[in-house]
Amino acid sequence: MASRCRAAPLLARVARRGPSTSTATPAAASVSTLARTQPRLQVRCLSTSRPRALQHTAPTRQVKFSSETYPELKRDERFNKLTQEHVDYFRGILGSESAVIDGVTNDKAADDIEPFNADWMRKYRGHCQLVLKPGSTDDVSKILKYCNENSLAVVPQGGNTGLVGGSVPVFDEIVISMSRMNKIIDFDEVGGTLVAEAGTILEVADQFLASKGYIFPLDLGAKGSCQIGGNLATNAGGLRLLRYGSLHGTVLGIEAVLPDGTVLDDLCKLRKNNTGYDLKQLFIGAEGTLGIITKVSIQCPQRSKAQNVAFFGLESYELAQQAFREAKGQLSEILSAFELMDGGSQELVVKVTNNKRPLEGEYPFYCLIETSGSNAEHDGAKLETFLEDVMEKGIVADGTLAENETQIRALWGWREGITEALSHLGGTYKYDVSIPLADMYQLVEDTRARVDAAGLLGDTDEHPVRAVVGYGHMGDANLHLNISTRRFDKRVEECLEPFVYEWIQARQGSISAEHGLGLQKKKYISYSRNDTAVQLMRRVKSMFDPNGIMNPYKYI
Ligand code: FAD
Ligand code: MLT
Ligand code: ZN
Repeated sequence: MASRCRAAPLLARVARRGPSTSTATPAAASVSTLARTQPRLQVRCLSTSRPRALQHTAPTRQVKFSSETYPELKRDERFNKLTQEHVDYFRGILGSESAVIDGVTNDKAADDIEPFNADWMRKYRGHCQLVLKPGSTDDVSKILKYCNENSLAVVPQGGNTGLVGGSVPVFDEIVISMSRMNKIIDFDEVGGTLVAEAGTILEVADQFLASKGYIFPLDLGAKGSCQIGGNLATNAGGLRLLRYGSLHGTVLGIEAVLPDGTVLDDLCKLRKNNTGYDLKQLFIGAEGTLGIITKVSIQCPQRSKAQNVAFFGLESYELAQQAFREAKGQLSEILSAFELMDGGSQELVVKVTNNKRPLEGEYPFYCLIETSGSNAEHDGAKLETFLEDVMEKGIVADGTLAENETQIRALWGWREGITEALSHLGGTYKYDVSIPLADMYQLVEDTRARVDAAGLLGDTDEHPVRAVVGYGHMGDANLHLNISTRRFDKRVEECLEPFVYEWIQARQGSISAEHGLGLQKKKYISYSRNDTAVQLMRRVKSMFDPNGIMNPYKYI
């Protein structure tokens, strides 16, 4: 059992264990059913297991085409339709059969193309007929140059785990899949600088770094499927931004191919480089609208020797804020994650996994705290003292501490597994937002009240909405408002939009904290950016991509 923290004197000793490569599923192990193990010092656990790709839920053929769900979207007639001649050209560049999935001249390829057409949420689906898998920067350059000259629109695709409809086509854009460009090129064991191709899966990069005593400065539930190029393109935030900061700070350089085929070699490995405009920053978070990232150079921190995780229940959001304040004060430099989950989100995880909850009682809010440090004795004592203190002060109602790596993973599963659990229950309307902490959870309550008042929320099948839940990276003031439905339903979407965006605008929040704009939020950008900024962004876009071939219908 994980240590149960009912009262300070009952606090069990905190295990000092190595960091986990946490999984996206709480099914991996239930904390409450694990055998108790003796705490022991373990410097680091190097996972060499294969990355666990995320599971898709519904077959793609059941996903409605985006062009039907959003009939206001019209195909841009500037773009040419694909012909046999185009396909022959790409075959000439890429050679091998498997690098070209051709549904233009071969009807039988349709099934092979489907996974590239539908997004992970099963909300968006395109009509793509051609998937290209370049094997080198030179391949990418030749493909884009040809597409630019022949007015063929493209969608760069990484692991296709994006949550805003940015990674799949809307109409017949060509998908350029980066999956073959997955080599680790160089690692500086003294400086901690990793250089890798953009199609490297995040978990593979992290496992490589673990073998060298380092860690990738980004971690998220989709790590087994998403690619580092996709991570940069979305400027993914993830679970430890609180500790390692944003990719805008850790990425040292990139190589990218511009729409006309020009290769921008800015693969700098220096921490300091104030020589002119910092062009790489434009590609971080550009969601494939300016060019294709082909290589990445990134500063990786030393992997922590000790990791501890606590999970606890609280009676109110106000108390969760107090716990965060205390955690920052008491755990300071070893605090590596502070995550929030509401009771509703945990109920959905239980519903899907049937796992035993880590705490005996049920609470309206739960928090997960992770510490990562270099001194196991010191870190364990600090977390234990913190928990004693917040329980004595009545901030935390009940808590548990992981005692080994399996339990660490299981506790993380209650947080990381929410997204996957939601995906098993039907369609999810997802809003990834930043709001000053004091107001953050109010958005969930106001949204729930609104959906309920519209008669859309209920336990029976005639109600499209099953639950309105909130969770997220509290340490970054980043809330994930999720509306779990039995099926995607226009009435629900109309109830939510633009209501959610207006609510956020009124509080000077951001309508996209970490997932990006994609197709979902393109038309709402002005809720978080003023006219001057939007105009400047449009100029940047047309300077890089005057023919608009890069990921059209999205972003801006
Ligand atoms: P894709 O989904 O394939 O593409 C995303 C966007 O990037 C698209 O616009 C695409 O055109 C573009 N793109 C991809 N590769 C390139 C490239 N090489 N060059 C240029 N453009 C490119 N996100 C977070 O921020 N934090 C989280 O905690 C988080 N957790 C998640 C958990 C789950 C279970 C899931 C399913 C998703 C989660 N996400 C999270 C969202 C998603 O995983 C991230 O946005 C991730 O960075 C996308 O990477 P990808 O390789 O799958 O990119
Ligand atoms: C997360 O923090 O779990 C991810 O951003 C995915 C999600 O919002 O569901
Ligand atoms: Zn997130």
